[in-house]
Amino acid sequence: MEYKYGKAGNYEDFSSGRVLYHVNGMTNFPVRLAQEIYGRCLQYSPKKSNITLYDCCCGGGYLLTIIGFLNQDTIGRIIGSDINENMLHIAKKNLSLLSKDGISKRIIEIDEMIENFQKESHIEAKNSAIRLKGLIRNDIEYAVFQADALKAINLEEAPDIIVTDVPYGNMVAWTGDEENLIDKLLNVLYSISSPNTIIGLCMDKKQKVRNEKFIRLEKQQVGKRRFEILKIKF
Ligand SMILES: C[S@@+](CC[C@H](N)C(=O)[O-])C[C@H]1O[C@@H](n2cnc3c(N)ncnc32)[C@H](O)[C@@H]1O
Repeated sequence: MEYKYGKAGNYEDFSSGRVLYHVNGMTNFPVRLAQEIYGRCLQYSPKKSNITLYDCCCGGGYLLTIIGFLNQDTIGRIIGSDINENMLHIAKKNLSLLSKDGISKRIIEIDEMIENFQKESHIEAKNSAIRLKGLIRNDIEYAVFQADALKAINLEEAPDIIVTDVPYGNMVAWTGDEENLIDKLLNVLYSISSPNTIIGLCMDKKQKVRNEKFIRLEKQQVGKRRFEILKIKF
């Protein structure tokens, strides 16, 4: 796949556990790929600013937070949900970093670590946090809530863009019945989407999209990950 939106570069500042909070057992989503998926979704979206971005399997909110930092000009609101309540606490902490106030609090936290442990890695983390603070130009609103994405999601407004990295493998498995999980997820996403909602669905090679209610705008394979861009068929 040729990258159109995700620029090649050094994304160390976004490393999980450096400034952004890390969730044990959760793999780091590649930042460049996240940016590419969001960019492609935005390309298909009729709305180009004040975007409401939603992730229905948000985990610790890493994916949402990196997209938030990199798309200050287009995102107005970020919403995340996950079945696992313990994840939501971390998701909130990560999303709080998207405000000047939130990242300033994180810098104070890192300063305390520098004072207590005198580690080079903490000094690097502080420099990353200062650079991330420099990216903030907009006050992105955020909200997180608990929901089983295979059953029902209660959202007040249809999101403009949904980007989600669904569970796969042994690290993070689906919580739910085994059969046709992607199909079930899409039925739920159908109920919260508008005809203009664009969905960037990231999965592994084994998972297949077979849902008559959606049309596929794109299908891409990047390493072991596959993503599809979908919208409601009408
Ligand atoms: C690959 S991880 C997503 C990581 C996330 N994008 C991040 O940046 O931290 C998949 C997530 O799906 C969640 N999950 C599993 N089954 C679910 C379900 N039925 N409904 C909603 N979330 C679910 C897991 O708790 C996990 O956090």
